[in-house]
Amino acid sequence: MQANPLLRLEKISKSFGHVQVIHDVTVDVHPGRVTVLLGENGAGKSTLIKMIAGVHAPSGGRILVDGAEVRIPDTKASEALGIATIHQELNLVPSMTVAENITLGRTPRRFGVINRRRMRAIAREALATIGLDVDVDTPVGDLGIARQQLVEIAKALSLDARILILDEPTAALTTSEIKALFDVVRDLKARGVGMVFISHHLDEIAEIGDDVNVLRDGEFVARVPADTHEDELIRLMVGRSIDKQFPREPSPAPAGAPVQLDVSALEAPGLGPISLQVRPGEVVALAGLMGAGRTELLRCLAGADAYTSGRVEVRGERLAPYDVAAATAAGVGHVPEDRKMQGLVLDASVAENIGYATVRSTSRFGLVDRKGQRRRASAVAERLRIRMDSIDQPIRSLSGGNQQKAVFGRWFTAGSKVLLLDEPTRGVDVGAKVEIYELINEITADGGCVLMASSDLPEVLGMADRILVMSQGRIAGELPAESATQDSIMQLAVSNVNRDEEPANPQGATA
Ligand SMILES: Nc1ncnc2c1ncn2[C@@H]1O[C@H](COP(=O)(O)OP(=O)(O)OP(=O)(O)O)[C@@H](O)[C@H]1O
Ligand SMILES: [Mg+2]
Repeated sequence: MQANPLLRLEKISKSFGHVQVIHDVTVDVHPGRVTVLLGENGAGKSTLIKMIAGVHAPSGGRILVDGAEVRIPDTKASEALGIATIHQELNLVPSMTVAENITLGRTPRRFGVINRRRMRAIAREALATIGLDVDVDTPVGDLGIARQQLVEIAKALSLDARILILDEPTAALTTSEIKALFDVVRDLKARGVGMVFISHHLDEIAEIGDDVNVLRDGEFVARVPADTHEDELIRLMVGRSIDKQFPREPSPAPAGAPVQLDVSALEAPGLGPISLQVRPGEVVALAGLMGAGRTELLRCLAGADAYTSGRVEVRGERLAPYDVAAATAAGVGHVPEDRKMQGLVLDASVAENIGYATVRSTSRFGLVDRKGQRRRASAVAERLRIRMDSIDQPIRSLSGGNQQKAVFGRWFTAGSKVLLLDEPTRGVDVGAKVEIYELINEITADGGCVLMASSDLPEVLGMADRILVMSQGRIAGELPAESATQDSIMQLAVSNVNRDEEPANPQGATA
């Protein structure tokens, strides 16, 4: 192929303290091609790209741009080399507006004064490239995670880079936004931009990737073309094959079992009225487009947000609104969409993060049962194969997918009977997804139930017993999982729910 790659990582190594996480890895990025990094959670993908982005310095090896060795001591140096990076964990400043975030570090000025008009214009233009329609004066913290991700993408694109690095850019996006992003990627390819792409969705790799570099435990395993069969990619990255990606074992409730979760006429600004019931043993999926109201509904049910009217009952007991502690005490567990802001205490240890929901129930005479906490956390960490050096290390230093597994592990350990999951496998690798699904099977076999918002349609079809499709803050209809298809879900998701009429399938929606 081309003589000089646009970017070369040559025999790169990286250690944190005494732990080496990258071993002698070489990766090339060519103009007009998408280089994929593939590997399990904790394999070292993000660490590798952080060395290109100027976040971490390599412990060994060289980085070359156009064949010449470069040093990238900080993010400014990376940008100056024509490299733009979309990080896995968002880097936006929540209190600043969309326009301020997009122009951060290169705020347009006139006679020394911030030129707000120009700033807004740059931001609007950036948003237009990916078709995102938000007011550029909105504080970023007011946007949902998908819109924040799109702002981050728009920001990177507006840098006009020659090398674009995308670390799981699609994890928080739904089908239509992914399509818009991929259209941009194809356009950049045609313009000769070299890209690095990371995703746990193997179908996306086939769709826009060119060369796939497989990593395992920080070591280079193989370089294969992107149209390599999925089973082979899985075998290369996991080191074994996986027979069933969706091992759902339905566990129907015994006749006459009381409803676990009963929601009637719940209304909040932009949401509802919503009525639904989830029975013991059921996995019910919430599907829908960005902004359909799935996250908001789950947050109301978890006590994380207030609602204006309606009633939520767990096993026949009314749940106090806007009261997380009451929800937890009633056995309601919530895996939020934004693990970094809402799910984790980043500087606390893995054991503490997993133990938060059980601190009170396991304390004796006001003393936290630290030994028990560590033991329970270790057990669930092993089941979910959370990759770490120690259960006592701060959760901040775990890879993104491993952090997500820890949030799920918390509620599994707590023995929650009603699990509210918002994109539970976001950023989780194919092998660990199966572990999460198996824990879901255990929870439902044990009489628990799951209400799960997911934008991953294969996951919805593969794991749910029933699918509720939301649109414009309401339930647009219900589909039984056996007969649903991606198309039938999408059709309902884009349907216009007339707010004055009943939803398409009122019986179904509450059955
Ligand atoms: N700052 C740090 N201190 C200590 N260890 C770290 C640090 N950053 C990353 N690691 C470790 O390096 C390894 C690789 O992590 P990395 O984030 O690169 O994985 P990844 O392949 O991106 O995984 P994921 O798919 O979950 O995002 C992990 O074991 C992680 O715990
Ligand atoms: Mg990562």
